[in-house]
Amino acid sequence: MPETKQAVVIASDHAGFQLKVELKQQLEALGFEALDLGTDSVGSVDYPDFADRLAAAIKEGRASKGVLVCGTGIGISMAANRHRHLRAAVVHDATTARLTRQHNDANVLCMGARITGADVAKDCLRVFLTTDFEGGRHENRVAKLGR
Ligand code: RB5
Repeated sequence: MPETKQAVVIASDHAGFQLKVELKQQLEALGFEALDLGTDSVGSVDYPDFADRLAAAIKEGRASKGVLVCGTGIGISMAANRHRHLRAAVVHDATTARLTRQHNDANVLCMGARITGADVAKDCLRVFLTTDFEGGRHENRVAKLGR
């Protein structure tokens, strides 16, 4: 029987479109199913709409983790964090990607295509998806984020 691939949702605005294409390839190379929620071109769009799409997909249970890309990673993370069930972290390197999983139990990885090069972004993605939450002293703090 073929193993079911774990799904990861991914979305971006126009500024993040090209990096999203590369990150989708990386997801597939790592053995995940990439559920692409757009945008589909470099035509101008509004990043909150794509954070909202990703929030809905995670709420529906289509995936437990997501990836968002905009120009800086900042705007789209702000939009994502308006949703209580998301803990979205802007990361810039493998260390921040690892720590936000271990300490914050982040379920959405945000990156800026105008800030972070494709190779570093791919490292961040791999580390984010393969690092577990440490729990322990972080449990109570993370629970407070959902209040
Ligand atoms: C789009 O030009 C840009 O503002 C957006 O991608 C993002 O960087 C916002 O935070």
